[in-house]
This record gives sequence, structure tokens and C-alpha cells, in this order.
Amino acid sequence: MPDNDVMISIKEVTKRFGNTVTAVDQVSIDIRPGEFFALLGPSGCGKTTLLRMIAGFELPSAGQILIDGQDMEGIAPNHRPINMVFQSYAVFPHMSVFDNVAYGLKVSGVPRAEIGPRVEESLDLVKLAGYGPRMPDQLSGGQRQRVALARALVKRPKVLLLDEPLSALDAKLREAMQLELVRLQHTVGITFIVVTHDQKEALSMANRIAVMEEGQVRQLASPAELYEAPNCRFVADFIGKTNLLQGRVGGLSGAQVLVQVEGIGPVPLSGDKEMRGEVGVAVRPEKMRLRGDGPAEDEVGIKGRVAEIAYFGEVSFVYLTDAQGRSLSVAVPNHKRTGGGAILTGQDHWCCWRPEDAILLPE
Ligand SMILES: Nc1ncnc2c1ncn2[C@@H]1O[C@H](COP(=O)(O)OP(=O)(O)O)[C@@H](O)[C@H]1O
Ligand SMILES: [Mg+2]
Repeated sequence: MPDNDVMISIKEVTKRFGNTVTAVDQVSIDIRPGEFFALLGPSGCGKTTLLRMIAGFELPSAGQILIDGQDMEGIAPNHRPINMVFQSYAVFPHMSVFDNVAYGLKVSGVPRAEIGPRVEESLDLVKLAGYGPRMPDQLSGGQRQRVALARALVKRPKVLLLDEPLSALDAKLREAMQLELVRLQHTVGITFIVVTHDQKEALSMANRIAVMEEGQVRQLASPAELYEAPNCRFVADFIGKTNLLQGRVGGLSGAQVLVQVEGIGPVPLSGDKEMRGEVGVAVRPEKMRLRGDGPAEDEVGIKGRVAEIAYFGEVSFVYLTDAQGRSLSVAVPNHKRTGGGAILTGQDHWCCWRPEDAILLPE
């Protein structure tokens, strides 16, 4: 019986190359219909290999993959209800845009009369209406990427797989295409699985993200949950910026865990009450405030000296070094055009944060 709430079910899937490389290590993920799902992780963590197994270009060494309730074992890539947009988004250079998009339909024997309207519909979806007669070398990089998308969508797959689809585009265009992909996915309503090593890209596009390291899924959650409640140091560090302080569990304080934070003292924190011994205490730079005269009543703080200020336009990152030589970063929004923070290197400031904004992490 197919489960209507699951489009792709990855069950305990492992992929080994030879005797030494385990590219994907017992991964289990359920992806819902109509979901915009991201596989996120550093280079070499197994994202592409997992995607290629869903597509059928690689076979699992162990485990099972079901698409729409059907076991994919023994089913060739062209017989799976999926389509893939590759990292290099190669388009045939000697074919017009129209012929590039029509190619897959012709190969799979779609009647001639149906091909024209379906190609036009696909080009329309990716905002390339009227570009049919153009040759690929008459297009910009972003437009070629749209052709690759139209070519994948024209076959009306249940699932679209995209491997680092925007990595070849420059920063501005990449941001625009991120929004475009979200819009496109809303319009067509099919399941998208995007592979990316760019955490900002995953956060801005996906409904849910699986963060991978060394072939394994470390955490699977919504973007906000990954950012505000990472479950380990790797995820806390990989998603966004973070200050990671060292602490030691001293006991319980009501519903809170009392943590002896290095350089501060005992701080009551929310978290797993089973945690013992050494722990990490993560505080995001934007959750910290700089103060001249110590923490407010509901805050704790560490005194530091401003070592460096990095200006990013909307925000500046102020890097401080404390008495123990630890580096801390505090995000200071640039609310005013001029004379804003007036924070200067060499000044002493307190980096202050509210205990409820800290994340308790296992060692
Ligand atoms: N065909 C292959 N033969 C041997 N090792 C491979 C092959 N494909 C990938 N790998 C290895 O598997 C690991 C995961 O690779 P990959 O899935 O491409 O990672 P990612 O896409 O996350 O960068 C890497 O160590 C890579 O070198
Ligand atoms: Mg890859």
C-alpha cells in the first residue's frame, strides 16, 4: 500500500565504492509530495551519490528506495518518475532552445502534435516564452539554466532532482534564481530535491533540509529549526555563524540545566536534562549585544576587546578577544547611515546574551 504522505522513501541506504569509501552510510529519509527538500553538507559528504541513487544512475550497496510507493530496485533511470538537472546543466549546443526542450519528448515517442504545446508551456514556466528559435550561445548563463529546467519539467516528472543547480551563476543571479525556483516549485507543485553545499541557499529555498556529514544525516529539520535548535556542534557550526563556548553541567535548576560556562559562571539553560560533563554552549552573533557597562539584569556576558570589525552593509560583525584569548563575534545592525555604532577597535565591550537565546549542545 503506497503511503500518500511519502513521495520518496529512502530506507537504510548505503553506498560503498570499492573497499575503502562509504559515500552514503545507512541514510533513511522520507520526502513528502510537493515538498522542496534540500540535501545540504560540505563537499564530499555524499549528497550527489544519494541523488544519483534516487535517479537510478548508481545502485545502493544496501537498503531500499521507494518512489510513490514503488520499489525502484531494477528500474532503469528513464523508467523512474523523476528527472534530473545536472550540476553542469549541459544543453545541446547545436540545437535550438525549442529542440533542446523537445528532445526528451521526441525520444520517448510523444505524438508530434502534442510536442509543440508542451514545449511552449515549459518555456513559459521558466519565463523563456518566445526564446524557442534561439541557439544556446545566444543565451546568458541564467537563461541556459532555465532551458535545462524547462527540459526537465517538460516530461512532467513526479520528482525533480537538482544537483547544485545554481553553482555556476554569479551571486546576484543566484539569489534571483533561488526565488525563481521556489516560485516554479509552487506553480508546478511537484517534489523538488536540491543538493547544495551553500547553507544560505538551502535555508532560503527549502521546506526541510537534511544536513549531511561523512555520508550520514546529522539533522533533518525545517530551516528555522536547524538554525535555532541545531542538535550537534557540526550543524550549529555549518548553518550560519556561531559562538561556541565551553561549559560543564553542574546539575539541575528547576526545569533548566545549570551549566558552568567558562569565563562566566553558572548559567541556567534549556536543554536535554540527561546531559552530563562537558557541553557546548552556542550563541549566534545576532543574539549578542555589545554593552559598555556589563550585562543587563536578564543577561550574562563576557568582557572582550574589539580586535576587528567586518562591514557587510546591513550589518557589521564585531570580533572581540576576551581575557582568556577566546574570539567572540557580535552582529551589530547598521541602523543609521552614518555615526551608527561608533564601535572602534581597541575598545573594551561586554558581549551580552540572554540565557534563553543560547543552545546547549552535547560534547
Ligand atoms: N564513482 C566513484 N568512485 C569512487 N568514489 C566515489 C565515486 N563517486 C563519489 N565518490 C566518493 O564518495 C564521496 C561522496 O561523494 P559525492 O557524493 O560526490 O559528495 P558531494 O556531492 O556531497 O560532494 C567522496 O569521498 C567521493 O570521492
Ligand atoms: Mg556533489
